[in-house]
Amino acid sequence: MKEKIQEIFKQRFGTDSVVYASAGRINLIGEHTDYNGGFVFPGAIDKYIMAAININGTGKVRVYSMDMDAYCEFGLNEEDAPQEQWARYIFGVCRETIKRGGTVKGFDTVFAGNVPLGAGLSSSAALESCFAFALNDMFNENKIDKFELAKIGQSTEHNYCGVNCGIMDQFASVFGKKDCLMRLDCRSLEHEYFPFHPEGYRLVLLNSKVKHELVDSPYNKRRESCERVAATLGVETLRDASYTMLADVRDKVSDEDYRRARYVIGEKQRVLDVCDALERGDYETVGRCMYETHDGLSRDYEVSCEELDYLNDVARECGVTGSRIMGGGFGGCTINLVKEDRYDNFIATAKEKFNAKYGHEPEVINVIISDGAHKVVD
Ligand code: GLA
Repeated sequence: MKEKIQEIFKQRFGTDSVVYASAGRINLIGEHTDYNGGFVFPGAIDKYIMAAININGTGKVRVYSMDMDAYCEFGLNEEDAPQEQWARYIFGVCRETIKRGGTVKGFDTVFAGNVPLGAGLSSSAALESCFAFALNDMFNENKIDKFELAKIGQSTEHNYCGVNCGIMDQFASVFGKKDCLMRLDCRSLEHEYFPFHPEGYRLVLLNSKVKHELVDSPYNKRRESCERVAATLGVETLRDASYTMLADVRDKVSDEDYRRARYVIGEKQRVLDVCDALERGDYETVGRCMYETHDGLSRDYEVSCEELDYLNDVARECGVTGSRIMGGGFGGCTINLVKEDRYDNFIATAKEKFNAKYGHEPEVINVIISDGAHKVVD
């Protein structure tokens, strides 16, 4: 992909360029916990956004998206915000870097990627992290630390894209390391790498192709529910809540908010249980927790959809060790931990049954846990 992007860059802008990349992510467990100060357990994957970039000596950014065949240019002041949603991700990263005292000057760029869009694999975080990393390298001598790069992406979502997301996706995209999952404590930001080699198992995603779109979605509403319950409990986030505390305010919160909080409290513990189980090589426990997460996300948190619940049911029928909806929800993928010897049957059955019911096959996405944001050298 690198050569192709550089070639298109040269045709369009007439100069050489430097190439940067950042990755999409999976999350083994720990969903909707990040903005509640809880734990997440993601890893970067071998699906990237790549950008060829060169400083252009003007005050403008000129961007060409190869995948959309779309062009946009904008200045670097707040009032220069572009209308196009896709360009706002890059504009936001420039602005958030500047707001933190970083330097950004005009540049030309061509970008492309193979992170499936709207599949819940964080294509937007990959785009943000790619540019945050690049601007740090090109204009700021890499002086902005990695957590700040992740926060630049997160603030871009908040301030320019309308999604009140947590830190997980950008963290995974910036910090990702080959063959490792990462447990992040979203309150203290302490993190730990866990080598992930599930001998005899495979990790596979099934994309329902129901478009997952967090902008204007009930995602922000879920966060508001959690914040309301935390306020009622008098704690900063649901990280500090327990089932007992929640039971005590049962009649002070709505039934809906109660169920949202009940899910979050359970999920917080499941991440820790999964990490312990992984260290013992106990994949049965990992899988059981994944199913529990699915049930919680579907019934209590209500971010699933019919198609994802169906894929989860098929996984159970096929004896898949663990399966659940992954990411923000409202469409996208399930993540499945499946024994090698059950893999072929599971994939064939899921394709056939899903197709019979919904008129198209789910997309099978095999992932390799890979490095996060980096400069691409030959
Ligand atoms: C989206 C958000 C993340 C996180 C997940 C759910 O991917 O961007 O911050 O909240 O949903 O775990």
